Amino acid sequence: MSVTTTEIVLPGIVEPEGLRTRERPLDAPAAGQVLVRVEASGVSFAEQQMRRGKYYDQPRFPFVPGYDLVGRVEAAGTGVDAALTGTRVAAVTKTGGWASMVLLDAGDVVPVPERLDPAEAETVVINGVTAWQMLHRVARVRPGGTILVLGANGGVGSTLTQLARHAGIRVVGTASPRHHDAVRALGAEPLDYRAPDLPAQARKLAPEGYDAVFDHVGGPGIVGSWRLVRRGGALVSYGSASTRDVAGSSRLPVLALIGRLLWWNLLPNGRRASFFNVWAGRRRRDAFRRRMREDLTAVFGLLAAGALTAQVAARIPLTRAAEAMRLAESGTVAGKIVLIP
Ligand SMILES: NC(=O)c1ccc[n+]([C@@H]2O[C@H](COP(=O)([O-])OP(=O)(O)OC[C@H]3O[C@@H](n4cnc5c(N)ncnc54)[C@H](OP(=O)(O)O)[C@@H]3O)[C@@H](O)[C@H]2O)c1
Repeated sequence: MSVTTTEIVLPGIVEPEGLRTRERPLDAPAAGQVLVRVEASGVSFAEQQMRRGKYYDQPRFPFVPGYDLVGRVEAAGTGVDAALTGTRVAAVTKTGGWASMVLLDAGDVVPVPERLDPAEAETVVINGVTAWQMLHRVARVRPGGTILVLGANGGVGSTLTQLARHAGIRVVGTASPRHHDAVRALGAEPLDYRAPDLPAQARKLAPEGYDAVFDHVGGPGIVGSWRLVRRGGALVSYGSASTRDVAGSSRLPVLALIGRLLWWNLLPNGRRASFFNVWAGRRRRDAFRRRMREDLTAVFGLLAAGALTAQVAARIPLTRAAEAMRLAESGTVAGKIVLIP
């Protein structure tokens, strides 16, 4: 069997227009692998960092970006359940998803309900598992609680907001004013993250503090997020978006952030602070895969039941990935941009 894949290559630190398209033959799936025809892949914030060389542990250039995907299994290698062939699956890949065909370990793919539109399902793969695990495995906020979600219109933020609302949690969400209607439609109370008195406005909406604050921004603003956590509550930091354009090491800002969180966690103040990393624990491969499968299955279930609404900002052909990146970086979109091979 000879298969050709079309893929997008990030050759180095380039503007979006520097992305290249290439075609190359793929081998037949080896033992334990599946060959997946990609139906949708997502544009995540990670690719904005990667094209600047600013993602924490990105591979050496050149490489194929693409953090997650949804597709159909075309063929399986030996040792793989034959029933998988022909089914729709999702995978979190970190890189490699911007392609028309991919080879994956069968243990890394998670079934996607057939009735879901692949682009809609795609919006809740990395976003869904990140949001689900932060809310239900890390912060463990109870129904009736109140949380603060920074960037509530973004890919992770809009999914987190919906999951929390579904769980009976009140959500205050920050976003640019142009996205406040979208944030309201998700059931959250919007605040402008550029307002100079944002901490005071956030405090006014929850005078006792928040049961959890979800912060992907990092930088000095993390202090404001920590101060807004109530006693018994949790700060969940999960990114350093504010340092995307800061020259220098891709790792130092994250390490400094983690150091700060560890220090706060040691203080006897009845609050928790942690850095969430979706890849943590992947060395215990079976447990990691089980968690990923359980959590993604729960999210797909909510999407299929209509409890979650997919936030598709745009569907753009894979070969126009540069345009998709420009759009993602324009600050004008609400939800996730999906690439269609
Ligand atoms: N740790 C993990 O395991 C993990 C996993 C997945 C994602 N992430 C992180 O999650 C973050 C979001 O990823 P994504 O793909 O959802 O990105 P995205 O769709 O591009 O959304 C980014 C969001 O950030 C908002 N924003 C920008 N600057 C802000 C600021 N100063 N304060 C508050 N909000 C601000 C944007 O709002 P406007 O559009 O209104 O400007 C937008 O809502 C990234 O930092 C990513 O690295 C971490």
